[in-house]
Amino acid sequence: MRLERVLQYAKTLLRDTVEIGDTVVDATAGNGHDTLFLAELVGDTGRVYAFDVQQQAVDATMSRLAEAGVQARCEVILDGHEQVANYVSKPIKAAVFNLGYLPGAAHDVITKPSTTVAALESLLQQLVVGGMIVLVIYYGHEGGKEERDRVLDYAASLPQKQVHVLRYEFINQQNDPPFVIALEKVKEFPK
Ligand SMILES: C[S@@+](CC[C@H](N)C(=O)[O-])C[C@H]1O[C@@H](n2cnc3c(N)ncnc32)[C@H](O)[C@@H]1O
Repeated sequence: MRLERVLQYAKTLLRDTVEIGDTVVDATAGNGHDTLFLAELVGDTGRVYAFDVQQQAVDATMSRLAEAGVQARCEVILDGHEQVANYVSKPIKAAVFNLGYLPGAAHDVITKPSTTVAALESLLQQLVVGGMIVLVIYYGHEGGKEERDRVLDYAASLPQKQVHVLRYEFINQQNDPPFVIALEKVKEFPK
Protein backbone atom coordinates (compact mmCIF):
# COMPACT_ATOMS: atom_id res chain seq x y z
CA MET A 1 0.00 0.00 0.00
CA ARG A 2 0.93 3.64 -0.31
CA LEU A 3 0.34 6.11 2.52
CA GLU A 4 -2.15 8.73 1.47
CA ARG A 5 -0.73 12.24 1.18
CA VAL A 6 -2.14 14.78 3.59
CA LEU A 7 -4.58 16.43 1.17
CA GLN A 8 -5.73 13.09 -0.18
CA TYR A 9 -6.31 11.84 3.34
CA ALA A 10 -8.40 14.92 4.21
CA LYS A 11 -10.57 14.13 1.18
CA THR A 12 -10.87 10.48 2.15
CA LEU A 13 -12.17 11.47 5.58
CA LEU A 14 -14.76 13.77 4.01
CA ARG A 15 -15.75 11.25 1.33
CA ASP A 16 -16.28 8.55 3.96
CA THR A 17 -18.39 10.88 6.13
CA VAL A 18 -20.56 12.88 3.76
CA GLU A 19 -23.65 11.42 2.11
CA ILE A 20 -26.13 12.65 -0.47
CA GLY A 21 -28.50 15.18 1.11
CA ASP A 22 -26.16 16.26 3.93
CA THR A 23 -25.52 19.82 5.11
CA VAL A 24 -21.80 20.63 5.22
CA VAL A 25 -19.48 23.62 5.66
CA ASP A 26 -16.35 24.77 3.86
CA ALA A 27 -14.97 27.10 6.53
CA THR A 28 -12.22 28.55 4.29
CA ALA A 29 -13.52 28.70 0.72
CA GLY A 30 -10.42 30.28 -0.87
CA ASN A 31 -10.41 29.31 -4.53
CA GLY A 32 -13.33 26.92 -3.98
CA HIS A 33 -11.65 23.55 -4.50
CA ASP A 34 -13.05 22.05 -1.30
CA THR A 35 -16.41 23.74 -1.80
CA LEU A 36 -16.75 22.01 -5.17
CA PHE A 37 -15.59 18.70 -3.71
CA LEU A 38 -18.23 18.96 -0.97
CA ALA A 39 -20.92 20.04 -3.46
CA GLU A 40 -20.31 16.86 -5.42
CA LEU A 41 -20.51 14.73 -2.26
CA VAL A 42 -23.85 16.18 -1.03
CA GLY A 43 -25.56 15.95 -4.43
CA ASP A 44 -28.41 18.17 -5.54
CA THR A 45 -30.45 17.47 -2.37
CA GLY A 46 -27.65 18.58 -0.05
CA ARG A 47 -26.38 22.00 0.97
CA VAL A 48 -22.88 23.47 1.21
CA TYR A 49 -22.20 26.66 3.17
CA ALA A 50 -18.83 28.16 2.26
CA PHE A 51 -17.25 31.04 4.16
CA ASP A 52 -14.45 33.43 3.34
CA VAL A 53 -13.59 36.94 4.47
CA GLN A 54 -12.18 37.98 1.06
CA GLN A 55 -14.38 39.06 -1.86
CA GLN A 56 -11.75 37.65 -4.21
CA ALA A 57 -12.22 34.20 -2.66
CA VAL A 58 -16.01 34.40 -2.76
CA ASP A 59 -15.87 35.37 -6.46
CA ALA A 60 -13.40 32.60 -7.31
CA THR A 61 -15.50 30.03 -5.46
CA MET A 62 -18.76 31.13 -7.08
CA SER A 63 -17.31 30.95 -10.56
CA ARG A 64 -15.83 27.49 -9.92
CA LEU A 65 -19.24 26.27 -8.70
CA ALA A 66 -21.06 27.86 -11.64
CA GLU A 67 -18.66 26.27 -14.11
CA ALA A 68 -19.43 22.88 -12.59
CA GLY A 69 -23.19 23.61 -12.54
CA VAL A 70 -23.55 23.03 -8.79
CA GLN A 71 -24.08 26.59 -7.51
CA ALA A 72 -27.77 26.00 -6.63
CA ARG A 73 -26.82 23.68 -3.78
CA CYS A 74 -24.22 26.09 -2.34
CA GLU A 75 -24.26 29.32 -0.39
CA VAL A 76 -21.00 31.27 -0.53
CA ILE A 77 -20.86 33.74 2.34
CA LEU A 78 -18.59 36.78 2.65
CA ASP A 79 -18.11 36.51 6.40
CA GLY A 80 -15.92 34.79 8.97
CA HIS A 81 -16.44 31.11 9.77
CA GLU A 82 -16.80 32.08 13.43
CA GLN A 83 -20.25 33.42 12.43
CA VAL A 84 -21.41 30.00 11.20
CA ALA A 85 -24.29 29.75 13.68
CA ASN A 86 -25.79 32.95 12.24
CA TYR A 87 -26.07 31.35 8.79
CA VAL A 88 -26.56 27.61 9.28
CA SER A 89 -29.47 26.38 11.35
CA LYS A 90 -29.52 22.72 10.25
CA PRO A 91 -27.42 19.96 11.81
CA ILE A 92 -24.04 19.77 10.11
CA LYS A 93 -22.48 16.51 8.91
CA ALA A 94 -18.97 17.75 8.10
CA ALA A 95 -16.78 20.80 7.88
CA VAL A 96 -13.37 21.46 6.38
CA PHE A 97 -10.75 24.11 7.09
CA ASN A 98 -7.56 24.90 5.19
CA LEU A 99 -5.69 27.20 7.54
CA GLY A 100 -3.34 29.89 6.26
CA TYR A 101 -3.59 32.34 3.38
CA LEU A 102 -5.25 32.26 -0.02
CA PRO A 103 -2.78 30.94 -2.60
CA GLY A 104 -2.02 33.65 -5.15
CA ALA A 105 -3.32 36.49 -2.95
CA ALA A 106 -1.71 38.82 -0.41
CA HIS A 107 -0.38 36.96 2.61
CA ASP A 108 -1.76 39.43 5.11
CA VAL A 109 -5.25 37.89 5.26
CA ILE A 110 -4.75 34.67 7.15
CA THR A 111 -6.86 32.52 9.42
CA LYS A 112 -6.40 33.51 13.06
CA PRO A 113 -6.22 31.41 16.24
CA SER A 114 -9.14 33.00 18.10
CA THR A 115 -11.60 32.95 15.19
CA THR A 116 -10.56 29.45 14.12
CA VAL A 117 -11.15 28.11 17.64
CA ALA A 118 -14.44 30.03 17.93
CA ALA A 119 -15.60 28.43 14.67
CA LEU A 120 -14.60 24.98 15.88
CA GLU A 121 -16.53 25.45 19.12
CA SER A 122 -19.61 26.56 17.22
CA LEU A 123 -19.37 23.80 14.59
CA LEU A 124 -18.92 21.08 17.21
CA GLN A 125 -22.22 22.12 18.80
CA GLN A 126 -24.03 21.87 15.46
CA LEU A 127 -22.27 18.74 14.26
CA VAL A 128 -24.35 15.56 14.23
CA VAL A 129 -23.09 12.51 16.07
CA GLY A 130 -21.07 10.68 13.42
CA GLY A 131 -20.06 13.99 11.86
CA MET A 132 -16.49 15.12 11.22
CA ILE A 133 -14.48 18.34 11.13
CA VAL A 134 -11.29 18.12 9.08
CA LEU A 135 -8.54 20.74 9.35
CA VAL A 136 -5.53 20.94 7.07
CA ILE A 137 -3.03 22.94 9.08
CA TYR A 138 -0.48 25.00 7.17
CA TYR A 139 1.81 26.83 9.57
CA GLY A 140 4.90 27.94 7.62
CA HIS A 141 3.71 31.56 7.31
CA GLU A 142 4.01 34.32 9.91
CA GLY A 143 1.58 33.61 12.75
CA GLY A 144 1.08 30.04 11.54
CA LYS A 145 2.83 28.33 14.42
CA GLU A 146 0.79 30.25 16.98
CA GLU A 147 -2.42 29.18 15.25
CA ARG A 148 -1.20 25.58 14.96
CA ASP A 149 -0.48 25.47 18.68
CA ARG A 150 -3.81 27.03 19.66
CA VAL A 151 -5.73 24.56 17.53
CA LEU A 152 -3.72 21.63 18.88
CA ASP A 153 -4.25 22.75 22.49
CA TYR A 154 -7.96 23.16 21.87
CA ALA A 155 -8.31 19.83 20.06
CA ALA A 156 -6.34 17.95 22.73
CA SER A 157 -8.56 19.43 25.45
CA LEU A 158 -11.82 18.10 23.96
CA PRO A 159 -13.55 15.43 26.06
CA GLN A 160 -12.79 12.00 24.67
CA LYS A 161 -16.29 10.70 25.35
CA GLN A 162 -17.71 13.23 22.94
CA VAL A 163 -14.95 13.78 20.38
CA HIS A 164 -12.27 11.55 18.91
CA VAL A 165 -9.29 13.60 17.77
CA LEU A 166 -6.84 12.36 15.15
CA ARG A 167 -3.54 13.85 13.93
CA TYR A 168 -2.25 12.61 10.57
CA GLU A 169 1.23 13.83 9.77
CA PHE A 170 4.45 12.89 7.98
CA ILE A 171 7.08 13.58 10.63
CA ASN A 172 10.24 13.47 8.52
CA GLN A 173 9.36 16.14 5.93
CA GLN A 174 11.19 19.47 5.70
CA ASN A 175 9.80 23.01 5.48
CA ASP A 176 6.77 22.95 7.77
CA PRO A 177 4.62 20.43 5.86
CA PRO A 178 0.87 20.64 6.43
CA PHE A 179 -0.88 18.03 8.56
CA VAL A 180 -4.45 16.97 9.27
CA ILE A 181 -6.45 17.20 12.46
CA ALA A 182 -9.81 15.42 12.38
CA LEU A 183 -12.50 15.81 15.02
CA GLU A 184 -15.12 13.06 14.99
CA LYS A 185 -18.17 13.69 17.17
CA VAL A 186 -19.11 10.40 18.76
CA LYS A 187 -21.60 11.56 21.40
CA GLU A 188 -23.73 14.64 22.08
CA PHE A 189 -22.30 17.13 24.63
CA PRO A 190 -24.16 17.27 27.95
CA LYS A 191 -26.70 20.13 28.04
C1 LIG B 1 -5.59 28.28 2.69
S1 LIG B 1 -6.86 29.33 2.10
C2 LIG B 1 -8.16 28.20 1.66
C3 LIG B 1 -7.93 27.44 0.39
C4 LIG B 1 -9.18 26.79 -0.14
N1 LIG B 1 -9.61 25.67 0.66
C5 LIG B 1 -9.07 26.40 -1.60
O1 LIG B 1 -9.53 25.31 -1.97
O2 LIG B 1 -8.56 27.18 -2.38
C6 LIG B 1 -7.49 30.08 3.58
C7 LIG B 1 -8.65 31.01 3.35
O3 LIG B 1 -9.22 31.35 4.60
C8 LIG B 1 -9.76 32.63 4.49
N2 LIG B 1 -10.05 33.17 5.84
C9 LIG B 1 -9.24 33.84 6.69
N3 LIG B 1 -9.89 34.12 7.84
C10 LIG B 1 -11.16 33.61 7.70
C11 LIG B 1 -12.31 33.57 8.53
N4 LIG B 1 -12.31 34.10 9.76
N5 LIG B 1 -13.42 32.97 8.05
C12 LIG B 1 -13.44 32.41 6.81
N6 LIG B 1 -12.38 32.42 5.97
C13 LIG B 1 -11.25 33.00 6.42
C14 LIG B 1 -8.73 33.41 3.70
O4 LIG B 1 -9.29 34.54 3.11
C15 LIG B 1 -8.29 32.34 2.68
O5 LIG B 1 -9.00 32.48 1.48
